[in-house]
Amino acid sequence: MFKKSDIIEKGYIDEAIAPGTDILSEIRRMRKEKNAVILAHYYQTADIQELADFVDDSLELSRKAASASADIIIFAGVKFMAETAKILSPETKVLLPDLNANCSLADTCPPEDFKKFVSDNPGRTVISYINSSVEIKALSDIICTSSNAYKIIESLPVEERIIFAPDRNLGAYIADKVDRDIIMWQGACHVHENISVEAILDLKEKNPDAGIIVHPECETPVRKMADFIGSTGALLRYINTDDAKKYIIGTEPGIIHQMKKLRPDKIFLSVEGRDESCRCNECNYMKLITMKKIYLTLKYEEPEILIEKDLIGKAAKPIRKMLDISDRLGL
Ligand code: 13P
Ligand code: SF4
Repeated sequence: MFKKSDIIEKGYIDEAIAPGTDILSEIRRMRKEKNAVILAHYYQTADIQELADFVDDSLELSRKAASASADIIIFAGVKFMAETAKILSPETKVLLPDLNANCSLADTCPPEDFKKFVSDNPGRTVISYINSSVEIKALSDIICTSSNAYKIIESLPVEERIIFAPDRNLGAYIADKVDRDIIMWQGACHVHENISVEAILDLKEKNPDAGIIVHPECETPVRKMADFIGSTGALLRYINTDDAKKYIIGTEPGIIHQMKKLRPDKIFLSVEGRDESCRCNECNYMKLITMKKIYLTLKYEEPEILIEKDLIGKAAKPIRKMLDISDRLGL
């Protein structure tokens, strides 16, 4: 007999599902019965993107979480996304099918070290990327995502001095575009830093007609090669309206599912990673979420994201500020 808390924590996934269970129809049945909504990020596998009620980038998913009227949100994404949903919708039960679904970028910014960094650099507005822990959000003035970071910083008075955290690559991308006093936390995402100039050049040589499009979390030399740089949502909008027929995709390949759906007439090439152990460039954290885990999570209503009320209050302020500025700027 399994304890429900053991199932996902200890990995008894297959053993916990009765033979012959039609997982997909059971998820659909329970989702309706329990008034649950499934939010999925573009880096999820194709089957999960197809199942989800909403598939989007970080900004849009946080908007969905803020306006959710469901009793349960199942987040098919990583922990910082599920935490953001809980912060914006504290009365809703927010479930993350695997609590190990962290984010290497968020993990590069330990709260105690960041607190010291902020106090060592007083008088600066702290802008943190949404890919950060709830504790980092609580230490920030404004949160941003890759789709609104540049516009949010540009909208601030020029004399305002800034701390940007935790992504040094997104930070460098913005610092290049604005004439501002910005100091940066030196964090990075292992997936995007695995995308190399050499691998892109190799693909470009074989496919000279392909456009190069990358996420701003990629390193500067990679961004410099790109025809277009943008968030997952922005990359999708770009391939839909741009004239090229083929693209080299400098981000997690999960997005290619939506690209193919949107433009079945075009070709999308994933960039091989430089790291021998992960040539594929998949985000191993995103891919911890599976259909079987979603089924068990919905069935047992675990694992749940629980955050102290006081911390929710502190982290909600900078996220709400981001949503307000984004609405005001029409982002
Ligand atoms: P987006 O905000 O572009 O969806 O990116 C989220 C993310 O985790 C990128 O690695
Ligand atoms: Fe975090 Fe990178 Fe995965 Fe995005 S791709 S969730 S930044 S580890």
